[in-house]
Amino acid sequence: MKFAAKIIEAELKTFESRFSGAVKSDVPLLDTIMKYIIRRKGKQLRPMFVLLSAKLHGEVNERSYRAAALVEMLHTATLVHDDVVDESMERRGFFSINAIWKNKIAVLVGDYLLSKGLLMATTHEDIALLHILSEAVKQMSEGELLQIEKSRKLNLDESVYFEIIKNKTASLLSSACGAGAWSTTQDKEITEKMKRFGEKTGIAFQIKDDLFDYGNQDIGKPTGNDIKEKKLSLPLIYTLNKVDKATKRQLLYIIKNHNKDAEKVKEVVSIVQQSGGIHYAEQLMNRYKNEALDILQQFPQTDAGKALEDLVKFTTERKY
Ligand code: IPE
Ligand code: IPE
Ligand code: MG
Ligand code: MG
Repeated sequence: MKFAAKIIEAELKTFESRFSGAVKSDVPLLDTIMKYIIRRKGKQLRPMFVLLSAKLHGEVNERSYRAAALVEMLHTATLVHDDVVDESMERRGFFSINAIWKNKIAVLVGDYLLSKGLLMATTHEDIALLHILSEAVKQMSEGELLQIEKSRKLNLDESVYFEIIKNKTASLLSSACGAGAWSTTQDKEITEKMKRFGEKTGIAFQIKDDLFDYGNQDIGKPTGNDIKEKKLSLPLIYTLNKVDKATKRQLLYIIKNHNKDAEKVKEVVSIVQQSGGIHYAEQLMNRYKNEALDILQQFPQTDAGKALEDLVKFTTERKY
């Protein structure tokens, strides 16, 4: 990621000032929370994808910056809401918004970020941009809802898992790359190709995120939370479909009845590790990563192209 950050060092600074400018509020409590969000910024991968996708095909311009800011605003809004939905108290190495200000405020903060993002785009009549990103917003809500529905039924189907992660995560990365490319080309074909590149990257990205949940490294947010929420992700789906009947029954029993018991959850994690579930998920993650890199090969190998390659590799090799 260092190489990628270096290539767009100046652009990232401009993005950051656009982002903080766009979320300012005259309401004191909102302003306090926005400052908190700006201070506790994340990896900023999505704006990096926007800016590099823009640079790969032309010259970064004001429209590219608005796309980057909008994407990060939408991402932040969904994280704030996601922590309410997942009852998660830690984000980016510190307390989540709901942990400090409680759910009511977190819901409104997410809505505020979303509406400020939309306003920024409409003020500048970025209709195409708005179109690309509204699709992602819709898909993210669908993905999160599908996930809740399926977790209640303990879904064991790999294809449903992929449908969920395509919607909740890959859609925004896809739109980020598409919006970036659009901002410098206004070319439909290139934009579509970059969207496909972003989607593959996004799928690999979420598989990696789900793998973190089975580890115990410090990633700035809780691990083991997915089982607690009865979210069956790829390592567990593979395991449940592979182990003998008795083990499967034991696993499902824990997930249904002892999902908040840390010791029992550890048992599940250990069975998943032993059965090769982690290895399997890593393999699929790398397959999507390689598909993303293949699409990238079709474009000129400029610094921006190499930086995107660096960013895709970071997505699957990252430690947080
Ligand atoms: C977290 O995304 C949410 C997922 C889609 C898994 P990031 O890991 O990019 O979050 P930040 O912005 O760096 O905190
Ligand atoms: C991604 O799923 C959430 C969004 C797309 C908003 P997770 O629930 O796994 O994300 P984290 O692990 O809380 O960041
Ligand atoms: Mg979550
Ligand atoms: Mg997660």
